[in-house]
Amino acid sequence: QWIYLNGQYVKKEDAKISVYDHGFLYGDGIFEGIRIYGGNIFRCREHLDRLYDSAKSIMLNMPLSMTQMEDALCETIRRNGLRDGYIRLIVSRGPGNLGLDPLRCPEAFVVIIVEQLAIYPEEAYRDGLRSVSVSPRRNLPDALNPKIKSLNYLNNILVKIQANLAGVGEAIMLNSQGYVAEGSSDNIFIVKRGVVYTPPCYIGALEGITRGAIIELCAKLGLPLREEPFTLHDVYTADEVFFTGTAAEVIAVREVDGRIIGEGRAGPLTSRLLDEFRKIVT
Ligand code: PDD
Repeated sequence: QWIYLNGQYVKKEDAKISVYDHGFLYGDGIFEGIRIYGGNIFRCREHLDRLYDSAKSIMLNMPLSMTQMEDALCETIRRNGLRDGYIRLIVSRGPGNLGLDPLRCPEAFVVIIVEQLAIYPEEAYRDGLRSVSVSPRRNLPDALNPKIKSLNYLNNILVKIQANLAGVGEAIMLNSQGYVAEGSSDNIFIVKRGVVYTPPCYIGALEGITRGAIIELCAKLGLPLREEPFTLHDVYTADEVFFTGTAAEVIAVREVDGRIIGEGRAGPLTSRLLDEFRKIVT
């Protein structure tokens, strides 16, 4: 396996970064998770747009142009000979000193990892995941803006720990006002009486690329979709609940906090959206 390490291609065992890298010391950096389907990078430009917007927002100088970054992604995929897989693109503030001042980090550091991926077994897409709501709250735009896909994932890790303790696949995070925001690494949707709902991103959700693809698919299929704030009550009483994300794609939820959702397996609209999603990616 070959890793892109700031302009060089090195073996996985040799892919090392400085202990003075501010991505390591402070979580100071940004990243993207991207899929390759049949040799094509899914929505590459959208991922790069989000990455470069995140960089601009945190005043991180990108060492590569968007075209150079795309070339680096393609070359890393080529060297690893993968037609289907997952790309993790990381840009840290780079090596500096122990102080947190980013002025001490003259150059950002780029890492690209490409590997195979299977986060859920195929049955999970039919049967649905169990889920729970958890206590960590999603930051609102007045704190660290959820639109920035930053390397600071501690809150998401705390969510994942609670999911693990509850023995479930993904958890539901609320914002500080109690509205449903998203999962630890997925966006959330519910379906009620034929209408699809997802929280608007200002509630405290990443503007997911998969979320965007599902919103487009709903329009194409003539399914009514509303971006509206909702609460756990709406999740418990929904006909269907599902998560979306680059790694998870479209995964149904069959139970939330002990309440069975719909028939207790992937509902018809969720299954249809997953089928249609898999058609557009391949
Ligand atoms: N997840 N919300 C959070 C907090 C995320 O980390 C992610 C991405 C999403 C879904 O966004 P997208 O559809 O653009 O992947 C929502 C990881 C990194 C992933 O699935 O690769």
